[in-house]
Amino acid sequence: MKLLLLNGPNLNFLGIREKGVYGTEDYGYLVRMMKEKAEREGHELDIYQSNFEGGLIDKIQEAYYNGTEGIIINPGAFTHYSYALRDALSSVEIPKVEVHISNVHKREEFRHTSVTAPVCDGQVLGLGLKGYALAMDYLTGRE
Ligand code: DQA
Repeated sequence: MKLLLLNGPNLNFLGIREKGVYGTEDYGYLVRMMKEKAEREGHELDIYQSNFEGGLIDKIQEAYYNGTEGIIINPGAFTHYSYALRDALSSVEIPKVEVHISNVHKREEFRHTSVTAPVCDGQVLGLGLKGYALAMDYLTGRE
């Protein structure tokens, strides 16, 4: 399958930012973990991170043209207020799973709202980096 993994703002700072919340593994570790899993299971995985809303939107629009069959997205703080990102996600009929490393419901009130989750198939949250692997399993139809 052709898959896309998107990470939003500050996720390139994994292993540096709030280690008690996001863990000690860095962004490079996440990229390696997901690349290796995709290769092992025979999938093609494009991985992209941006601190800019437009960069993520461009990638979602590109996915429409290039035959992407599943999107895993951690929109970071854009989750809570980006209607532009939500519109981009709802524009494409590609299965999508939203991932959050932390349990946003245990955190500040503003993190309890996701404007992007309602246009995704589902959401995985609070399970650390494992959530990304679980999202891929869902999209590829693994148990
Ligand atoms: C996050 C949760 C968001 O509230 C936060 O802004 C992030 C990361 C998570 O993975 O837990 O940047 O999406």
